[in-house]
Amino acid sequence: MVNNVISESILARAMNKGIVKYHVKNLFDYADLPHKRIDDYPFGGGTGMILKPEPIFKAYNEVLEETFSDSKAKVVFPSPDGSVFNHDKAVELLKADTFIFINGHYKGIDQRIRDELVTDEISIGDYVLTGGELASLVITDSIVRLIPDVLNSYESAETDSFYHSLLDCPHYTRPEIFKGLSVPKILLSGNHKKIDEWKNKERETKTRNRRPDLWEKYKK
Ligand code: ADE
Repeated sequence: MVNNVISESILARAMNKGIVKYHVKNLFDYADLPHKRIDDYPFGGGTGMILKPEPIFKAYNEVLEETFSDSKAKVVFPSPDGSVFNHDKAVELLKADTFIFINGHYKGIDQRIRDELVTDEISIGDYVLTGGELASLVITDSIVRLIPDVLNSYESAETDSFYHSLLDCPHYTRPEIFKGLSVPKILLSGNHKKIDEWKNKERETKTRNRRPDLWEKYKK
């Protein structure tokens, strides 16, 4: 799943430009013979299997060696009981230059991994996924696109929703009239000052109506 996503689109381009490097590990490669188990039954009973600490610690140490990282790497455990991810968190994470994502299943990872290795427990929303991989990829995508030179100037992250605590304004392209629906006249005026004012007003109106929480933050 992870290799498929990182070999497409902007995540792949960032790698091909030499800006980022991905080291994807399969925990089964770090499990001991003879049974090569990566999970086991929970102490104290309960349903579901728990990921064992040894393969994860081994994989973690190998990634640190491969990336020449010291203990300053951010170690992210995606989990519905982490703090909810947002743009500010992506910017904060970007201060590190190595991210290690440990993909487990909800409840199903030995607590000692969380206590000893994990620096950030992050949820991507109030719903439960079947595993951490999709959440890790969401977080990776949102971080990688903020790294300088990953996006070109047309795709620039600076005009995105959230960049200045506001949602994005509406966008239009050709044709000027589609099914009788016209592009707002102001966008055809060539008056860039007025266009910027219009865009900002649209961003403010959308944010006020849809996201009162962001609106309060913006007004401060
Ligand atoms: N793993 C399972 N559900 C998740 C969620 N909502 N966010 C992050 N990781 C998860």
